Amino acid sequence: MRDGPSRIVVRKCRQRDVAALEESAPTGRNRYHEARYRRQSEGTSTFLIAHLDDVPAGCGEILWEGAKESDVRGRFPDCPEINGLIVVAGHRSQGVGTTIIRAAEAIALRRGHHRIGMGVGEDNSRAGALYLRLGYQDTGYRYLDRYHHIDERGTRHEVTDRCLFLVKRLRDVPE
Ligand SMILES: CC(C)(COP(=O)(O)OP(=O)(O)OC[C@H]1O[C@@H](n2cnc3c(N)ncnc32)[C@H](O)[C@@H]1OP(=O)(O)O)[C@@H](O)C(=O)NCCC(=O)NCCS
Repeated sequence: MRDGPSRIVVRKCRQRDVAALEESAPTGRNRYHEARYRRQSEGTSTFLIAHLDDVPAGCGEILWEGAKESDVRGRFPDCPEINGLIVVAGHRSQGVGTTIIRAAEAIALRRGHHRIGMGVGEDNSRAGALYLRLGYQDTGYRYLDRYHHIDERGTRHEVTDRCLFLVKRLRDVPE
């Protein structure tokens, strides 16, 4: 998907994009981009990469089997989740995040999904406001996003973020 006259192109990540993405948006020992690419290869996700003027500027993953956190998955079955949305700091506020989200919605719709979800940190008001503007609705569901990251010294840190789950209806379906 190309956004307007400019310069944002979003497409499925290819193997050769992974190293370039790691350079633009480093994940160090966590190797998050590799894991996302692997899940895409296994068929459980679609890993989208955005280029701005041909430079990797952001990415996001659609988890087809539902939300990463099992309690959210249980509460919202058959609802793919946009996960790991990130835009490189120097490329924010230029429409890259919006273009990734719209591309994810279009792919989900093509695959026959009538809704798509996204978690956002309770303290991430800017991101939350953007998603609401794009048509996502606060489901009222609150949960803890649990993950770990490994710092440059190799120390593992457990992280827990309080999040709310947003859902966008992609098309009307009879109940
Ligand atoms: C949240 C995030 C993904 C949004 O991506 P983004 O590329 O900055 O988003 P967009 O540019 O599409 O829209 C965001 C802002 O830019 C504005 N905008 C949209 N298109 C624009 C354009 N062509 N030119 C200038 N501004 C634009 C929007 O109005 C919005 O304004 P705001 O500052 O009031 O929020 C990104 O900021 C990010 O990676 N943040 C850190 C990580 C994070 O919070 N991830 C989300 C986890 S849920």
